[in-house]
Amino acid sequence: MAKTILTGDRPTGKLHLGHYAGSLKRRVELQNSGEFENIFIMIADAQALTDNFDNPEKVRQNILEVALDYLSVGLDPKISTMFIQSQIVELTELTFYYMNLVTLARLQLNPTVKSEIQMRDFKSSIPVGFLCYPISQAADITAFRADTVPVGEDQCPMIEQTREIVRKFNHIYGEDVLIEPKVLLPDNAVCMRLPGIDGKAKMSKSLGNCIYLSDTKEDVKKKVMSMFTDPLHLKVEDPGHLEGNTVFTYLDAFSKPEHFEKYLPEYASLDELKAHYTKGGLGDVKIKKFLNAIIEETLEPIREKRKVYEQDIDTVYDILKEGTKRAKETAADTLAKVKEAMKLNYFENKELITKK
Ligand code: TRP
Repeated sequence: MAKTILTGDRPTGKLHLGHYAGSLKRRVELQNSGEFENIFIMIADAQALTDNFDNPEKVRQNILEVALDYLSVGLDPKISTMFIQSQIVELTELTFYYMNLVTLARLQLNPTVKSEIQMRDFKSSIPVGFLCYPISQAADITAFRADTVPVGEDQCPMIEQTREIVRKFNHIYGEDVLIEPKVLLPDNAVCMRLPGIDGKAKMSKSLGNCIYLSDTKEDVKKKVMSMFTDPLHLKVEDPGHLEGNTVFTYLDAFSKPEHFEKYLPEYASLDELKAHYTKGGLGDVKIKKFLNAIIEETLEPIREKRKVYEQDIDTVYDILKEGTKRAKETAADTLAKVKEAMKLNYFENKELITKK
């Protein structure tokens, strides 16, 4: 059977280094591995509206930003189908039928939804659309018959919910109609949740602690030099602590052996650097400069590619339009199968509603 990927992002802001480490880098690797027959990358504008319904401007304006980020990290429209969620009405129809298969209590148990409700201070005024977004995410995944969903750890509850819906649907309406997907997490544990430059648990636009893929060289340097390290490490001679030290967390995520040779030849490895820092005698500025060089190595080609696409927005628009058209064909095909399984295809099969 064809191996198929579906994944996506809400267009609520430009994508940042956390997105890169947690999913974009992996997506490009998977794309280039040649192992997948179909790759669908979705700009989830409809899902973004579930908690930004009063600010559709923001969602709309970020569609192009996210598309530019996709293309600049190396997603290739010849291999990966990039599309816009809201333009595929089949997804909402699937969502409507899946709603019958999920209880309110089950939705309220979803840990990601729970923490988002808290973060957004919805209290008892939770919009129904928001609470149901895991169901719509199940529609996204199953519509494209995806077996593999590469996402960050916070998305695991959504995939679990999808698997439950698939099992229930297939049990009631016919085995093997829908495909039960698997989650694919980043292989490097520190990449799963990259902290913000202030050391807070997550890079997030609202916390203002992100390094964006589209940041200039100067911005990146300023941000790296201001990164949270070890508040007890005041003088160079002081022994430093690694735990909660954002610079070392980033080095865990991004540094490779060849970076030492290239930028910091007096150390053979990250372990050696860590040992020196812990013992004392290694200043923050030096490791920050090292980290900056590594991050630049990642971001520079992305920035250059972005510039090219920014000069040619018409092409980006056409890529999205073409991708959406292709994605719609697959979603429509799945919806037809779903309706057939549910015996809702009355006007294709007269007997369904006329036979006594
Ligand atoms: N929930 C994802 C996010 O917040 C975006 C998303 C929507 C998604 N539908 C999806 C991810 C389907 C993977 C599969 O980033």
